Order: sequence, then C-alpha cells, then structure tokens
Amino acid sequence: MMNSNDLFKGIILAGGSGSRLFPSTFAISKQLIPIYDKPMIYYSLSTLMMAKIRDILIISTPDHMPIYKKLLGNGSNLGIKISYKVQEKPEGIAQAFIIGEEFISNKNVALILGDNLFYGDNFQEKLIKATSFNSGGTIFSCVVDNPQDFGVVELDNNDRILSIEEKPSSPKSNQVITGLYFYDNNVIKISKGLKPSRRGELEITDINLSYLKKDLLRLNNLGEGFVWLDTGTPNALLEASNFIMAVEKRHGFKVGCIEEIAFKNNWITREQFAKIIDIYPSNNYGLHLKNVLNKI
Ligand code: TTP
Repeated sequence: MMNSNDLFKGIILAGGSGSRLFPSTFAISKQLIPIYDKPMIYYSLSTLMMAKIRDILIISTPDHMPIYKKLLGNGSNLGIKISYKVQEKPEGIAQAFIIGEEFISNKNVALILGDNLFYGDNFQEKLIKATSFNSGGTIFSCVVDNPQDFGVVELDNNDRILSIEEKPSSPKSNQVITGLYFYDNNVIKISKGLKPSRRGELEITDINLSYLKKDLLRLNNLGEGFVWLDTGTPNALLEASNFIMAVEKRHGFKVGCIEEIAFKNNWITREQFAKIIDIYPSNNYGLHLKNVLNKI
C-alpha cells in the first residue's frame, strides 16, 4: 500500500457556531470538546491520515484558530503538514473550497467535517478506494433514524442516485450523506458558482447535485454495522464518548489515535514517536502509545 496520497489535499472544517451545544460552546469550539479521551478533531484528522493524506488545511473561526494552532501546530511531529485558514462567518460547508482554493491548488480534495466520527470494518480500504479516482466525486452514506437532519439520498433498485435533498421535511429514505467528501479539482469552480440557499449558506448538497447532473457522483454505502456519529448535540456527544470508551476498553485499541497512525504509516521515526510519548504521564493514552512502540 502506498505510503502517502499526493494526489489529494485534505480539509477539516471546524468552524460553525455549535449553537445546539450552547452553553458548552459559548467560549470553546465544538470540535475541541473531548470525545471520551481525546479532542473531537482527532477523529476527523485520523480519518484523513488513514486515507494517507498528508497535506491538511484546518478551517475554523477567528476566535478559535489560536487554540487549534496550539493543539496541532504545523503537523511536523506527526509527519504531516497542517495549515490554517479562517472562515469569518459560518456561511456554509461548500465555502471550504473557496477558502481553500489556494491550498487545494491543482489537486483533488477530501473534505471532512470536524464533528464527524467514523468507525467500522474495512474503513481504511474504503478510504483508499475513494481516493483512487481521476474525476468526479465520491461521497459516503449511512442509514439513520433522523434523516430530516441531513442530506437525504433516494436510490433506485440498482443503487443509482435518484435525488438528494438537504434537510427535507418529508425524507424520501433513511439514507443520508455523511460529512466526508472526495472531489476532483472542479469543485473549486463549482463552489464559486453556487448561490446561497434560503438559509443563507453555500450548500454541499448543491455541489453533490452538480456532480450528479454530470453523472460524476459515486455513492458508497457504509453499510450495516458501520458506525457514523455526528456529534452536534449534547446527547450525541455523550453517546459518542460512551461508544468510544466501550470499543477501546473491549478491544484494547484506540480509535482516532493520530500519533499511532503517523507511526504506523511510517511518517515518523521510532525516535520521534518515543519523544511524543515522553510528554505523557502514565495515563491511559500515554500507556497505549508505549504499547504500540513496544509491539513494533
Ligand atoms: P453544523 O453542525 O451543521 O453547524 P454548527 O457546527 O454551526 O452547529 P449548530 O447547528 O449546533 O449551530 O455544521 C457541521 C460541521 O461543519 C461542523 O463541524 C461545523 C462545520 N461548519 C463550518 O465550519 N462552517 C460552516 O459554515 C458550517 C455551516 C459548518
């Protein structure tokens, strides 16, 4: 398996207002709130790292940017490159490609929402497959109980997309689009041509519809047994923490452990990895990293 994917750049969108979590997000950014034993953004960052994407842009609000920089720096300790750009106002997910135009340059791009968490079988395989295309877009879907809160896809009997509707009041199915998107470089042009929706946002659904119209949109159903969590409400936050705790305890591994992934991807040396471990006291996270070092 290749060691890094140089055809793709990665963007983590970690702005927004987090209003469903008020008052918890009055002063701090939603994506910095811990999910069990690590900050929320570790999970989305780890997803891009599992896709072997090493050049990553974090987009957040002017207020919260300094804390992201403090947490993740320039990425060199993970063998990756992290840069930062501010989104002045939450004017829509699709704005990420306009803010990120210079960063994306002439490459393809993966976008992940900083509050999305993925866990399931063969995830890395699915990610690698999603990044092996030449043109168009690839999105992932999942079946949920509350489709009206997301972008809903309607499929025909052959799993071809019939429609995509953003937060419909009468959803045509339970299948929704998750916050992980892979597009070719045309996405920049497409997003620049978008008009704000009725709620005043540049909609990612409009980007997907544009690819769909050209028959260039691929949909991957993550399938039964795959867990996708969007952690935007107090209940979802607690459920996600409980879920991660249960998985990590039962299996003795960690989900979203960015240092471990960097080491296993051969992006950092043993010495660099050991240096990271030195920072930790003998807490659970530090002990896990030590175990990884001793096993390899
Ligand atoms: P949402 O959860 O839809 O919005 P939010 O985070 O502002 O929360 P709330 O609805 O409670 O006010 O956003 C999904 C993700 O996308 C989340 O990680 C924030 C991010 N986002 C931005 O960074 N900028 C934006 O303009 C939008 C719309 C979302």
